[in-house]
Amino acid sequence: MKILVLGYKGMLGTDLMADLGGTHEVAGKDIEDFDITAPSECRDVVGQSGADVVINAAAYTNVDGCETDEAGSFSVNADGVKNVAMACRESGIKLVHFSTDYVFDGTKKAPYVEEDACSPINAYGRSKLKGEAYLREISDNYLLIRTSWLYGRNGRNFVGAIVERAEKTGKLEVVDDQRGSPTYTVDLAAAVRVLIEGDHRGVFHLTNRGVCTWYQFALKILEYRDMRNVSIVPIQSAQLGRCAPRPENSALSCRKFADATHRTMRFWQIALEEYMARMS
Ligand SMILES: NC(=O)c1ccc[n+]([C@@H]2O[C@H](COP(=O)([O-])OP(=O)(O)OC[C@H]3O[C@@H](n4cnc5c(N)ncnc54)[C@H](OP(=O)(O)O)[C@@H]3O)[C@@H](O)[C@H]2O)c1
Repeated sequence: MKILVLGYKGMLGTDLMADLGGTHEVAGKDIEDFDITAPSECRDVVGQSGADVVINAAAYTNVDGCETDEAGSFSVNADGVKNVAMACRESGIKLVHFSTDYVFDGTKKAPYVEEDACSPINAYGRSKLKGEAYLREISDNYLLIRTSWLYGRNGRNFVGAIVERAEKTGKLEVVDDQRGSPTYTVDLAAAVRVLIEGDHRGVFHLTNRGVCTWYQFALKILEYRDMRNVSIVPIQSAQLGRCAPRPENSALSCRKFADATHRTMRFWQIALEEYMARMS
């Protein structure tokens, strides 16, 4: 298959290129090549690609940044998706796009399924939900993958931030009232390939298996890094004073993926251990 990855230099884009490049003809475009907010640039990049599938991993992903720049977040995460979806429709190309656990408000006590009602509580979530709406409205051949709490080798992420702060200060305060599923971009990329090769369509939730709080995630990072001497204190989100509110529960059920592909994602602890071994 010929595949074009938009946002190929980002955290997920990097691992999509590496994974799909093994078995498919893959090309990438990023912000230096085109601006997703410009309809004509999207039309040119997609139209000239000759791709069978376009994967959109380009996004405005700074959650607190989106809160203070809601217009900017909508421009990339909503209008950008509209532009790519229109371009793919004009060229008859399947579109794979990513959304987030933050489209949910976090009040559900169990993991969210694909059909659950969305009600984002921050600007990032609202912009991503609008992007989802454009995708459904414009495309009749799409794969929409909601994922969460990503980390990977090529991007700023929680794992790196915890290690850096632990090394610098020897003490950490980490939020213990938000639950979700940490997800390794290598595992996500491999699962995306399975969905593409199976020609699956529609909405899928895809994360590593298991649920934890950021505090529990940080404890595991310190354990795998052999930094058990670091002082770590659980705190409440309100104590952190970040400008964008986060949902309390953003765990996603991946049952639909398992039923459709007969595969399951690895537990997040196993994926994290492998990632940290690779990075050290
Ligand atoms: N990171 C997470 O924890 C997380 C969680 C749930 C869902 N997701 C979703 O997963 C997808 C991939 O996320 P990620 O963390 O891999 O993203 P990322 O590392 O921030 O990569 C996004 C890429 O898109 C590029 N980009 C930004 N604005 C653009 C524009 N106007 N035109 C063209 N390219 C542009 C970025 O360039 P610059 O770096 O130069 O801006 C970057 O290379 C996104 O849809 C995101 O919403 C992420």
